[in-house]
Amino acid sequence: MRKKIVAGNWKMNKSFEQAEALICDILEEIDGLDSRLANVVICPPAVYLEMAVDLARETSISIGAQNMSQFTSGAYTGEISATMLQSMDVQYCILGHSERRQYFNETDEILAAKVKTALENVIKPIFCCGEALAQREAGVHFDVVKSQIENALFTLTEEQFAEVVIAYEPIWAIGTGVTASPQQAQEMHEFIRGVIAAKYGIAVAEETSILYGGSCNAKNAKELFANPDIDGGLIGGASLVAADFVTIIKSF
Ligand code: 13P
Repeated sequence: MRKKIVAGNWKMNKSFEQAEALICDILEEIDGLDSRLANVVICPPAVYLEMAVDLARETSISIGAQNMSQFTSGAYTGEISATMLQSMDVQYCILGHSERRQYFNETDEILAAKVKTALENVIKPIFCCGEALAQREAGVHFDVVKSQIENALFTLTEEQFAEVVIAYEPIWAIGTGVTASPQQAQEMHEFIRGVIAAKYGIAVAEETSILYGGSCNAKNAKELFANPDIDGGLIGGASLVAADFVTIIKSF
């Protein structure tokens, strides 16, 4: 059965002390929770990864990065490589977030390289896709998401693809308080699963975790997660408050 996952994308938030306290609070609140209910991934800013990995060691929580370089090593000032992440026991990396596509010019081509490099270094990509409001209004949202997935992921082998987590994040729902309705999200998730099935077969598609992201919070998570193709969430704002994040984790 495919994994249920709740991942927190902290984006560029929190001081070191606040980050440490937030992880400790989350760990305290999920103490005793059956880890089969949901896999929890926390993705803090890169400078806090070492602390986060240390705190999460021997707990049910996994730690992920928010970005990494497509290059393995060398003269790339300011960049962080997949090998570095792996050497620090980081297990996941968010790739292709719309904020990186929009503000840092990440293209499908760059993302395809990042996904490959991550997998070669045993880092599981949480690959984000999703359309802008104008694209949904123009009725091309399915085409947009399909091409994002095809361009960045479909050169992977079946074995590599099996390690990928997908996050559908409609851009119009990110940080806006406007969530996709459970119907809109389910419809897109079912479509994504179909796209995967057409390429890699039904068995692989059925094992792929597809998360929803975009104003998912403690109030609406249950209704979203109740849908058959929604396997959890990639949570921004609500992952910065321990009580809210833990309520979301318990929403299956
Ligand atoms: P919000 O939950 O703040 O809308 O952010 C979603 C997101 O971008 C997670 O990656």
